[in-house]
Amino acid sequence: MSTLPVRHTSRTGARDGLEPTHDSPGGVVRARPKLSSRVNAWRKHTPFNPYWTEHFWLQRSMGLLAEHASGRLLDVGVGERPHGKLFESKVARYIGLEYPPMADNLSPGIWTMLERVRGIIDVWRDGGALPFREGSFDTLLSLEVLEHVPEPDKLVREFFRVLRPGGKLLVTVPFAAPLHQLPFDYQRYTEPGIRLLLERNGFVVDVLEPRGNFAAVIGSLRAQHFLRALGSNARLHDGSASVSRWRAPFVLPCVALIQIFYRWISTFSKDTSYSLGYSVVARRP
Ligand SMILES: C[S@@+](CC[C@H](N)C(=O)[O-])C[C@H]1O[C@@H](n2cnc3c(N)ncnc32)[C@H](O)[C@@H]1O
Repeated sequence: MSTLPVRHTSRTGARDGLEPTHDSPGGVVRARPKLSSRVNAWRKHTPFNPYWTEHFWLQRSMGLLAEHASGRLLDVGVGERPHGKLFESKVARYIGLEYPPMADNLSPGIWTMLERVRGIIDVWRDGGALPFREGSFDTLLSLEVLEHVPEPDKLVREFFRVLRPGGKLLVTVPFAAPLHQLPFDYQRYTEPGIRLLLERNGFVVDVLEPRGNFAAVIGSLRAQHFLRALGSNARLHDGSASVSRWRAPFVLPCVALIQIFYRWISTFSKDTSYSLGYSVVARRP
């Protein structure tokens, strides 16, 4: 795995000791997204997106996590950097790291987006072998990544190593989520499960919160099932489903209604025995 080419792109060009210990050449590609991508980006923030419920609760967690971010931050498995703005305002330096085999496995339709993504990734490397010296960072971000690694202990040990003592690890993991990014989808975490993973690798868990409640899970799963059962014309190799252009005008309003209804129900629900996932603030002692 480590023999794969590594691309390092520095957006700032600044030399402040946080350059990877094994530097390598790389390039930045910045492409203006097409109209269809921009419409899709807009839809992502509306209930017409079957993942709207999930995004809503994730966004809420980000508010909590961002309060704990400071100094030099490393985002392992940065992806599209969807919460970048929130964290950038809290930290002095934001470094995004991605893993080439995962990025390259994304469905062809995502390549337009990926060109954009390639421009916001600073380091291409496996999060289980971080190219940074011990204690390099004040904050480590791992958002919806740990379910995608076959040996999560390896990653968490690396997080511990590159954080300075007192540094914060900010994590989110899914609990109720369909398979995604196949074949790299290895596990789901319960509350005791994610706590155990972090504590056995030396971390002290300060905050561990469920994301959403039982009603939110039902709303999210109903919407996604509805889309898959009635609105999808193909399953892609990574487990995602593509929406049929002809069925979308019927299916997406239903998806929206389902999610709006369960969003409302979830405001009354206190049952977190089933949640969309967990958000954690942990500390290297
Ligand atoms: C579900 S996505 C989450 C992306 C982003 N953190 C977010 O919140 O949208 C999981 C990400 O983890 C990355 N990933 C998986 N295995 C990795 C590894 N070993 N090292 C670094 N990143 C990894 C994937 O490439 C993917 O971008």
